[in-house]
Amino acid sequence: MVNGSRSPARPDATDDMTAAISAVAEAHGNRPDALLEIYHDIQERLGHIPEVALPIIARALNISRAEARGVFTFYHDFRAQPAGRHVVKLCRAEACQAMGCRQLEEHLTGKLGIRMSETTPNGAITLEAVYCLGNCALSPAVMIDGKLIGRVSAERIDALLCALDAGGAA
Ligand code: FES
Repeated sequence: MVNGSRSPARPDATDDMTAAISAVAEAHGNRPDALLEIYHDIQERLGHIPEVALPIIARALNISRAEARGVFTFYHDFRAQPAGRHVVKLCRAEACQAMGCRQLEEHLTGKLGIRMSETTPNGAITLEAVYCLGNCALSPAVMIDGKLIGRVSAERIDALLCALDAGGAA
């Protein structure tokens, strides 16, 4: 679950954003043990966790910035940038590895021209790694916009991406 490669964006915090982030921390009593829940709630509200959130949260919870950042970077679920219109999560855990998820990842990143944790330049698709979708018997597995899909081949993922295009949103 370690993600050391992400570097959050660095926009300045607007007053509204600072207030929203502080309000979420406050709603959890500014408790350090609620850090994960706070991150989840911020991501739900803002669509991602901006860089500026980390020092605000560290201050509110009275923890170090390094600790706030360490937890943020450890979990792949937390996004430093807003997601694209569609989110494709590719399982990289053991059963899916045994069934060719690496090749599927190469196919997807090559086709979309992005790396994992990135979004296509047109904002259509974000590609994310996950570690077991609970669908190991039907690996390799992906999740597209919250929908779980098993036994995914390169041809099938192409068809699924085409279907997103056909929906007019990709
Ligand atoms: S290992 Fe991929 S779904 Fe479980």
